[in-house]
Amino acid sequence: MTLELGVLVSGNGSNLQAILDAIAARTLDARVRVVVSNQPGAFAVERARQASVPSVVCSHKDYASRQAFDQRLIELLQEAGAEWIVLAGFMRILTPEFMQAFKGRVLNIHPALLPAFPGTHAIRQALAYGVKITGCTVHWVDSGVDSGPIVLQEAVPVLDNDTEESLGERIHRAEHALFVDALRKLSQGSIAPPGQA
Ligand code: GAR
Repeated sequence: MTLELGVLVSGNGSNLQAILDAIAARTLDARVRVVVSNQPGAFAVERARQASVPSVVCSHKDYASRQAFDQRLIELLQEAGAEWIVLAGFMRILTPEFMQAFKGRVLNIHPALLPAFPGTHAIRQALAYGVKITGCTVHWVDSGVDSGPIVLQEAVPVLDNDTEESLGERIHRAEHALFVDALRKLSQGSIAPPGQA
């Protein structure tokens, strides 16, 4: 099946780029219906523009509450015809109302082997802890922070002289392949949403 995607972003958008590239190369059967960024300056928005994909900047700062912001996100995604929601570096916690609107249809990528190092500084924390292996995780999103059933993981070794930047680069490369792989498997029916396995 062709996946109708809504992609939520907050930053650079390299994971979005990997998805756009795979769609353009016809190695992923999907369409990005809309990219929504909560950060006005996010480079991800420029990437969407270059790929001629609709994008919207919707700053959470313009909304009185988390609920009001998420309600707007729901509207934007539904109006665009997004059926599957991809969190590609989206740094906001989503409300139960959002999760209800897209129940079992929200995928996230995280730069660690969850359940280790959830949150916003996973790479820095892995280095500080001294783990020898970290990696990345694609998972279904539930109401927690970086929690929910794991779909795919890829291990990335930590090298002796690694910095946050060098380790981050290797993790990001692994993320790009892993996210596209997860979406491809979803479109091919070899992974199923939680509760439908
Ligand atoms: C990615 O490493 C993603 O795993 C991480 O943000 C980065 C976004 O990069 N997400 C989280 O940490 C979620 N807790 P990108 O904008 O270049 O795709």
